[in-house]
Amino acid sequence: MFDVQSLRSGYGEMSVLKDLTFSVSDEIFAVLGANGAGKTTLLKTLARLLPLQAGSLSLNGADVSRSPAYAMPDAGVAYVPQEENVFPDLSVQENLSIGGRTGHRTKAEKIEEVFALFPRLKERRGQAAGSLSGGEGQMLAVGRALMQDPKVLLLDEPSAGLSPLFVDALFSSIAETRKERGLTIVLAEQNAVKTLEIADRVMVLSLGEMHLLRPRSELQMSDITAAYHI
Ligand SMILES: Nc1ncnc2c1ncn2[C@@H]1O[C@H](COP(=O)(O)OP(=O)(O)OP(=O)(O)O)[C@@H](O)[C@H]1O
Ligand SMILES: [Mg+2]
Repeated sequence: MFDVQSLRSGYGEMSVLKDLTFSVSDEIFAVLGANGAGKTTLLKTLARLLPLQAGSLSLNGADVSRSPAYAMPDAGVAYVPQEENVFPDLSVQENLSIGGRTGHRTKAEKIEEVFALFPRLKERRGQAAGSLSGGEGQMLAVGRALMQDPKVLLLDEPSAGLSPLFVDALFSSIAETRKERGLTIVLAEQNAVKTLEIADRVMVLSLGEMHLLRPRSELQMSDITAAYHI
């Protein structure tokens, strides 16, 4: 899927990510790290919303280092930002309607799939998205992204501000979606405990640098917390 070589990225002249090299295959690839570690910067760079300052980025063997963000959905990449990821004045149903580009299945079928994954949204289909709870809003944002039939889903802290019950529901839906669709997921998170339950591999960022990258099976919680205390 993604192949990242010596990636440098940031804002203007400032580099946040200094020299990242890793690849993401068909897996749930988690990116953990404290506030300001560079998780959002990395996901924005993968979504092509930030230019690369150095290095290269390829997707399924094709160089996308200079691809514009608008080309990424057609390349199979969907991005769910950390904030402001739904249209607050539109209803749940309307948000989903403008989310999906039509492929083999009709839009109505795709919306029903999202409702099957997140029954909570079905009950609130007529409600303005801005009046949903935090967790329901995240479900809607993930649902909208799934309407694109992506091959890679970039999720930026979907559990932020959610109660444990919502985090459980959201994470089991993410795991289920991956099982059903064989979707590759890059998941930026603060919630290390929950993330370890579903991730295949975990990268921990610390001040823009890779602190570690390991399969979940070879990782202890103490390895992760070390990166949060720098
Ligand atoms: N638009 C911006 N302009 C300049 N600097 C920025 C901008 N956005 C983020 N930064 C800086 O880049 C660094 C990394 O921020 P980033 O948002 O990637 O962290 P994060 O790991 O996603 O943190 P959080 O867990 O709080 O979301 C921070 O030092 C931040 O201040
Ligand atoms: Mg962030």
